[in-house]
Amino acid sequence: MTAAGLKSTPGGPLRGTVRAPGDKSISHRSMILGALASGTTTVEGLLEGADVLATAQAMRSFGARVEQEGGGRWRIEGQGGFVEPLDVVDCGNAGTGVRLIMGAAAGFPLCATFTGDNSLRGRPMSRVLDPLARMGATWLGRDKGRLPLTLKGGNLRGLSYKLPMASAQVKSAVLLAGLHAEGGVEVIEPEATRDHTERMLRAFGAEVIVEDKGGVRHIRLPAGQKLTGTHVAVPGDPSSAAFPLVAGLIVPGSEVTVEGVMLNELRTGLFTTLREMGADLVISNVRESSGEQVGDITARYSPDMKGVLVPPERAPAMIDEYPILAVAAAFATGETIMRGVGEMRVKESDRIALTAAGLEACGVDVEEEPEGFIVRGTGQAPRGGTMVETHGDHRIAMSHLVLGMAAQAPVSIDEPGMIATSFPGFADMMRGLGGTIEEA
Ligand code: S3P
Repeated sequence: MTAAGLKSTPGGPLRGTVRAPGDKSISHRSMILGALASGTTTVEGLLEGADVLATAQAMRSFGARVEQEGGGRWRIEGQGGFVEPLDVVDCGNAGTGVRLIMGAAAGFPLCATFTGDNSLRGRPMSRVLDPLARMGATWLGRDKGRLPLTLKGGNLRGLSYKLPMASAQVKSAVLLAGLHAEGGVEVIEPEATRDHTERMLRAFGAEVIVEDKGGVRHIRLPAGQKLTGTHVAVPGDPSSAAFPLVAGLIVPGSEVTVEGVMLNELRTGLFTTLREMGADLVISNVRESSGEQVGDITARYSPDMKGVLVPPERAPAMIDEYPILAVAAAFATGETIMRGVGEMRVKESDRIALTAAGLEACGVDVEEEPEGFIVRGTGQAPRGGTMVETHGDHRIAMSHLVLGMAAQAPVSIDEPGMIATSFPGFADMMRGLGGTIEEA
C-alpha cells in the first residue's frame, strides 16, 4: 500500500479502448460456490483485487484447494462442504465476502471467528446474523453483531424470510445457508437486487425457483441440493467500468470504449440514468457469456448533460454507482436528485456524507438529506484544487480522481492503496487513456 496520496490533473482528451476488470460480485461467488461444490471449478477473468483474494484465502481455511493459475485463471477443488477453520477468518474490506461466507459456513457443524479491517468491523452484520439465527445458527460477538464475531453453524431449519432492506448480500447469505438446511429456504424480495447467486447456484446444478407475485420476487431453494464444480467466465464489472466511462463523458474531446461490460439489468441503473441526462453512451456488440449479457460501451464527451430525478426504485440496480453519478451530475446543468439511498450510509464508508463532503470541497453545490442527496450542477467544470478524504473507501477515491481529470484544478485523495480492493489497475488504465494521475 502506498503511503503517499494520488493526484489527478485536468488535461487533454481521453481516448482508447480498455477491458473492464472482472466483476467483483461474481468473483466472490465463484470462489464460495466452488469451495462448497464437489469437484473442480475453473474460473477465468477473476477480479484479482484484495477483496476477492481475501475470499480465496478464506475458502482455503474452510478446506478447499484454491490455486491461481495465472492471467485471471483459478482452479478450486471443492470438498462438497466446509471444515472448521484453524484460525480467525480475516475478510479484509469485503462486506460481500464476509456476509456470503457467514451464510455458507452456517450450514455446517463448525465454529468460525470472522474479522476484517477497520471499515468492515464497523459495518452491520446483524442483517445477516438475524435470519441465520432464525435458522438455528448461534453467534457471539460485539454489540449489534459487529466483527469480530464467532459463528456456530449446523442443524439449520428451513426459513421463509422477507428481506427488511434491498440487499443481495443478505439474500445470498440465506440462500447459501439454505443449501444445508432441513426444509429449504425462501427469500421474499420486495425490491429486486442483483441475482448473481441465483444464476450461479443454477450453473452449479442447484434448483432455484423464482416467482413474481404482484411485483414481489419469491426465490425458493428446495432442500437437498448438491453443487457440482463447473466453469465460470467472469464478465466485466459495470461498477468499475463506470469510472473510465464517466471520465470519457466529462473530459473535453474524449472517446472511451470499455469492452466486455456485464449488462445484467439489475446492475445497469447508472447507464440508464446517464442516458436520461443526455450522455452520449452507446452499447454495442451485445453477446452472452456464462449466462450473462455483456457488451462494449462507448462514452463520448457530453457537455450538455442535464440534471435528473433518479427514480428511488432504481437504487438497487446502481447502489455502488451513486458517488460517480454525483460526479457526472456536478458537470451537468441543473439538479440531480438522488433519494431512497439510505443503504449508502452503511457501505465501505458513509457514502452519502463522503460524496457530499468531497464534492463540496471541490466547489460543487450539494445538499445532503437523511436518505439521499441533491447535486446542483452549473454546466461548468467545478473548481477542484483540493485533497479529498476517502476514509479508506475505494469508490470515493476513484470518483474524486475522475472529477479531478476534468475540474479546473487538480484533485488529490488520501489512501490510494484501497483502490486495489476492487480495481487494482485503475490508475494505469486511466493513464493509458491519456489521463494524468500521479503520486501526490
Ligand atoms: C453486493 C451487493 C451490494 C453491493 C456490494 C456487492 C453483492 O450490497 O453494494 O458492493 O455482491 O451482493 P448490499 O447487498 O448490501 O446492497
